[in-house]
Amino acid sequence: MKQTTMKRGQFLRELGLSSSALMAFYCLGTTMTACSSGSDDPTPTPTTPTTSTGLTGNADLSKGAINFTLNLTSTDFATLKTVGNFVTVGSVIVANAKGTMVALSKACTHEGTTVGYRSAQNDFFCSNHGSEFSTTGAVEMGPATKALTVYTAKLSTDGNTLTVTA
Ligand code: FES
Repeated sequence: MKQTTMKRGQFLRELGLSSSALMAFYCLGTTMTACSSGSDDPTPTPTTPTTSTGLTGNADLSKGAINFTLNLTSTDFATLKTVGNFVTVGSVIVANAKGTMVALSKACTHEGTTVGYRSAQNDFFCSNHGSEFSTTGAVEMGPATKALTVYTAKLSTDGNTLTVTA
């Protein structure tokens, strides 16, 4: 198997980062001791993907199957403990629908606008052209004609962890 090596600058350029982003990486890579544009360190610096505090797993459909957990004691997701509240996580909208946790694809099936949960109607509403979806994803009002995808949302017995799977 052929193995190639590349320098950090080449690696970052292949990621498609802008020159200002490259400068930020260079600065971090030198542990803030210097920031010169002539850095030629052959060791690529590993990067950690940005995630919300309290999210573990994959919530992004473009990265594969939906499979994640939310820590409902974290600041980002504690709001879900309150009936009527909702959050969007990656490609998914999660709502506390009258005390039942539901998770559905967040993109309206009409033109992709992110839907929101309406506690008074207990449904999902797209503000772009007015489509409405039930908590089971079914279309209640067009112009959308296709249902939202529903994911399995399972709350831990202590109520502190929500697991969402496809
Ligand atoms: S994009 Fe949602 S109704 Fe048109």
